[in-house]
Amino acid sequence: MSLDDPKGGIALTLNGEAVILGADPAARLSEVLRERAGARDVKVGCNAGDCGACTVLLDGEAVCACITAAGQVEGRVVETQRGLLEGPEGQRLAAAFQRHQAAQCGICTPGMMVSAAALLRRGGALNEAAVADALGGVLCRCTGYRKIIDAVLDASRHKALVAEGDRAPVSEGGVGARVERLDGWPKVAGLERFGDDVAPADALSLRVIRSPFHRAGFTFGDLDAYRAAAGLELVLTAKDVPGENCFGVIPGFEDQPVFAEGETRFKGEAVAAVVGTPEALAALPDFPVTWEERPANLTPRGAAEAAQLHGTRADNVMCRGRVARGDAAGAMPGAAHVVSGDFSTGFIEHAYIEPEAAVARRVGDRIEVQCCTQAPYMNRDGLARILGLAPGDVRILPTATGGGFGSKLDLTAQPYVALAAWRLNRPVRIAYTRTESIASSTKRHPSEIRMEIGADAEGRLVAETFDGVFNTGAYASWGPTVANRVPIHASGPYLTPNYRADSAGVHTNTAPSGAFRGFGVPQSAVAQEQLFDMLAEKLGMDRLAFRKLNCLRNGDPTVTGQVFETGMGIEACFEALEPHWAWALAGAEQFNATHDTVKRGVGVAGGWYGCGNTSMSNPSTIRAGVTPAGEVVLHQGAMDIGQGSNTVITQIFAEALGVSVSQVALVGPDTDVTPDAGKTSASRQTFITGNAARLAGAALRAQILRLGNVGEGAEIGFEDGTIVLSEGGEKRRVELPQDEGYALEVTESYDPPTLPLDENGQGVPYAVFGTTAQMAELEVDLELGTVKLLRIVAAHDVGRAINPLLVEGQIEGGVAQGLGLALMEEFLPGRTENLHDYLIPTIGDVPPIESIIIESGDEHGPFGAKGLGEHCLIPTAPAVLNAIAHASGARIHHLPATPATVRAAILAQRENGTE
Ligand code: FES
Repeated sequence: MSLDDPKGGIALTLNGEAVILGADPAARLSEVLRERAGARDVKVGCNAGDCGACTVLLDGEAVCACITAAGQVEGRVVETQRGLLEGPEGQRLAAAFQRHQAAQCGICTPGMMVSAAALLRRGGALNEAAVADALGGVLCRCTGYRKIIDAVLDASRHKALVAEGDRAPVSEGGVGARVERLDGWPKVAGLERFGDDVAPADALSLRVIRSPFHRAGFTFGDLDAYRAAAGLELVLTAKDVPGENCFGVIPGFEDQPVFAEGETRFKGEAVAAVVGTPEALAALPDFPVTWEERPANLTPRGAAEAAQLHGTRADNVMCRGRVARGDAAGAMPGAAHVVSGDFSTGFIEHAYIEPEAAVARRVGDRIEVQCCTQAPYMNRDGLARILGLAPGDVRILPTATGGGFGSKLDLTAQPYVALAAWRLNRPVRIAYTRTESIASSTKRHPSEIRMEIGADAEGRLVAETFDGVFNTGAYASWGPTVANRVPIHASGPYLTPNYRADSAGVHTNTAPSGAFRGFGVPQSAVAQEQLFDMLAEKLGMDRLAFRKLNCLRNGDPTVTGQVFETGMGIEACFEALEPHWAWALAGAEQFNATHDTVKRGVGVAGGWYGCGNTSMSNPSTIRAGVTPAGEVVLHQGAMDIGQGSNTVITQIFAEALGVSVSQVALVGPDTDVTPDAGKTSASRQTFITGNAARLAGAALRAQILRLGNVGEGAEIGFEDGTIVLSEGGEKRRVELPQDEGYALEVTESYDPPTLPLDENGQGVPYAVFGTTAQMAELEVDLELGTVKLLRIVAAHDVGRAINPLLVEGQIEGGVAQGLGLALMEEFLPGRTENLHDYLIPTIGDVPPIESIIIESGDEHGPFGAKGLGEHCLIPTAPAVLNAIAHASGARIHHLPATPATVRAAILAQRENGTE
């Protein structure tokens, strides 16, 4: 029922104040708090009580506000994150969350802190189990929970409050320091504004009408009559798109319509949109569309015979990729030992806790869109094509982004609100429902992989062949990137003299597969690293020693013929694991000697990832200046979706300039005022935008030193509109020019040096590879097939850790996503469109994670730093699967390794005696 047509007011105490909210008693408390009381610190992630983002305290007890009726709080006390900040528990938690980097994107932080506050109020000593129990109803997709647990335990021990008057503490330090997140305070103080938090009160609402079938023809009824009868402002279909009715992210593959025309290609595809007041949408009659369900194909296996999704792509093959080096087919028969296998993985949903959301407004002949995103400039250019505008007439103002992991690179909600606001000249907003988000957003590509690997009698790799088919869904999205990247990476970070890898992206009638942390590499690692264990077993070699024997070293050619003379750090990663490996193996042996039903296993896997786009220009630009008043300003356009680029890029810039991070004022992403720092994807921001920031800092420093006519080593400071230069114990003051705008200004770009690949995939695809090795320790119940994780040890070569605190956060979050891939996650089109059927790891599912940071340096990276985001989950799933095999003898060929799958593999292994 309409919130504007309340049946009387609801009296409650909200954050210490008596209020009366005009609302329908049956309305969701979360909606009433957000829209009536302005409590935008109450986040909505699912509206089903699954994610816990909306948790509030009701008379001191943590409840999900989305499944609490507003009428239930009559006469009671409600507290949200903002209110708790006025009390000791909230303040201790905020300080601890900031200290521990427990908020990454921050969308789950209100729910986490509210739940933790209730726990702290109960008093008494806490332990990890108690924290996990209290926070078990709140999901986090970024952090891996470990730092959240640390923060809550810390808050329970430390009474120290945040210093009064200092509510946004900034720790100091240059490159290499554990500087607290510079943009962290709004997240822990309930002030962060995400995609659905910024709409003006008078914004109209928009709803997208989507296909209920995997494939269907459709015809509309009388839309004008429907609009009038429903009291709507506007109904949009394909004919209302003034520019091109398509979008995409890869040039030449912009194949996804804003609104389908004639036929839909996947369940959840948009055919129309309706725009009106919230009241009109709440009472929306059935949309006048007639569907004709048609035969659909959901897997690559039937693709050649299925209806062609795109007429120009034969057999529904979108594109292929290949890397060939040496003569794999010729060398394989000469190998002393050969293993082969088929492996498959399913769709993986990104499951960011913030569903897609946006608001658009027309400003004269321009359109402005506020939205959660990973790629402001790509969004701008895509919207310009759809609206038939020049790119400069579209302004993207990103909000905070509550997780992305690849899927918020693509346009989602933005075209719909932009089209509507453009037509109506009124602000228009949308926030996807969880079901809509899961049904329509991109996914990790399902894979079907056949791989064969041979080694000589001493265990050195002789040859590998790889054939991978990837379900790219109905539209291209990042499918071409996956098809190209996988063959380059499928060898893993190992010296492979004879190699042939082929990949294909195949269209089906499913949601588009796109970018998801790793772009297909985690899937190929599942096959390659499991076969490595099987090969080591045949050889009678220790599994870690086998990998170490074969790992790439400086001077070795990769499978594309690229040679790194410095910075190849995979051997150091494996060496860092060795003591843990020996200890864990001994422990497992001891445990297994005395246990029959539950067996302990240890697994290891390696991984690598090339930072940035594959053999393509992908520059970043940074602008910086000094105001006449002496303020240093950094225009930092790299989207910080939780990974920490606001902090890391500032540290790099400040180090190059020679000032402290607290002296740098940040101007965040806005396509009108910050230059293009590219997309937040492919582990490119620390490396590429970081390099642009390094160059900008150095250029600004050079300007300042020239102005003061001092030497390179002079220290730079600012006081009262003057530059203060200290050199050799002497200070010199230099007046800043008092011009309009910046007194001093620089703009610098960096584009990584790569070379195109030839027809065999030979060339220089990336300037930098990061490498990693991880170890998993777990127990398997042989009767139930259940897996209990005990510990993950993750060694990562990051070149140089610009901020070790943030490095740990990335590792822990990536590992948690890898555990989900290994053990529980699989999106089934049309069936798992919510967060109670689609399971992601909870706080109780992630074991202790020990991060080991390796700093091998890199000749191209800023201060030697490499990217990290994708690398963190690549070895996790195969390490877990190898540990399951070690414990149980059963090899898992299709993920996820659910208890039923593990149990079936154990039984099959007992019957057949083989993997
Ligand atoms: Fe928890 Fe992003 S920090 S979901």
